[in-house]
Amino acid sequence: MNNVDFNKRKVLITGGLGFIGSNLARHLVKQGAEVLLVDSLIPEYGGNLRNIAGIEDQVEVNISDVRDEHSMQYLVQGQDYLFNLAGQTSHMDSMEEPYTDLEINCHAQLSILEACRKYNPDIKVVFASTRQLYGKPDYLPVDEQHPLRPVDVNGINKMSGEWYHLLYHNVYGIRTSVLRLTNTIGPRMRIKDARQTFLGVWIRLLLEGKSFEVWDGDQLRDFTYVDDAVSAFLLAAAHNQANGQVFNIGGRRPISLKDTAELLVEANGEGEYDIRSYPSDRKRIDIGDYYADFNLIRSTLGWSPKVTLTEAFDHTLAFYNKNLPHYL
Ligand SMILES: NC(=O)c1ccc[n+]([C@@H]2O[C@H](COP(=O)([O-])OP(=O)(O)OC[C@H]3O[C@@H](n4cnc5c(N)ncnc54)[C@H](O)[C@@H]3O)[C@@H](O)[C@H]2O)c1
Repeated sequence: MNNVDFNKRKVLITGGLGFIGSNLARHLVKQGAEVLLVDSLIPEYGGNLRNIAGIEDQVEVNISDVRDEHSMQYLVQGQDYLFNLAGQTSHMDSMEEPYTDLEINCHAQLSILEACRKYNPDIKVVFASTRQLYGKPDYLPVDEQHPLRPVDVNGINKMSGEWYHLLYHNVYGIRTSVLRLTNTIGPRMRIKDARQTFLGVWIRLLLEGKSFEVWDGDQLRDFTYVDDAVSAFLLAAAHNQANGQVFNIGGRRPISLKDTAELLVEANGEGEYDIRSYPSDRKRIDIGDYYADFNLIRSTLGWSPKVTLTEAFDHTLAFYNKNLPHYL
């Protein structure tokens, strides 16, 4: 996946019991890294101990909240890498509880970086940012030069979190890299509800034999399979060309939501959905069509998404067919 050796390297993953963090942990454990997972396991969020089933004896887990400055000051010490993925991910929750989102996605990010500056300035940090920062695209595909115009509280706070990482590189020389992720899917994604992605709840309803709702079927999106996202994190960690850089992560090709639903039903062998218009509270913070231009990471680090959407759905459905009760 990447030619840098993580064997025996000390790695801290915040949000490590969540979807992407736990998949990243699996890859790092395979490469012989010493992995420490920090996660608050707040029930409404995506953390789940089941996500580390099979590797629980090969990772260390610390149930801490990244808002706890003292814990973070201690936990960053001695680490070679920090994959900073802890976050409040729901756009709707960020509108209903804006201060919680502010604390986790903005304030805590600053204190994590302060902890690095004071206690481990040689650490390499990769931050999980989001395409939500762009807001409604002026043009497609969206490259990193596109204006940033977040449409919700979550987008503003993630933008601050991201810029603190860049600032700490530019001012203090801490090696930080930022990945702006698009919809990421795969085993261990949150399917209980739509807090992580609408696809989660589609998959749950499909597997329960119920019809799911597709809002505005013509809307375009791109999807990254989680293993491809993980490879981007590892490449950004491993290569100094990534320091101080922001990279879009995208999917192999854009697809309408209706075609996405068709593909998902096909992968499952059966299923039904209804096309509806957007509910008004969601429409206000909807970004319309989006898909990423990821040429910068392709040319800088050689990353491109390998897994097709059909393969992604096959792997994801196979996982939940076996593990559904642990994710409801
Ligand atoms: N999944 C996507 O499609 C997507 C898209 C764009 C950006 N991202 C970003 O990637 C990161 C990981 O997302 P994910 O999809 O794995 O979501 P996730 O919800 O599965 O993972 C986030 C983890 O962070 C933990 N967490 C939340 N608040 C915390 C706190 N205060 N202290 C400690 N841990 C806390 C949660 O318990 C959870 O395990 C997030 O920062 C998210 O904003 C994800």
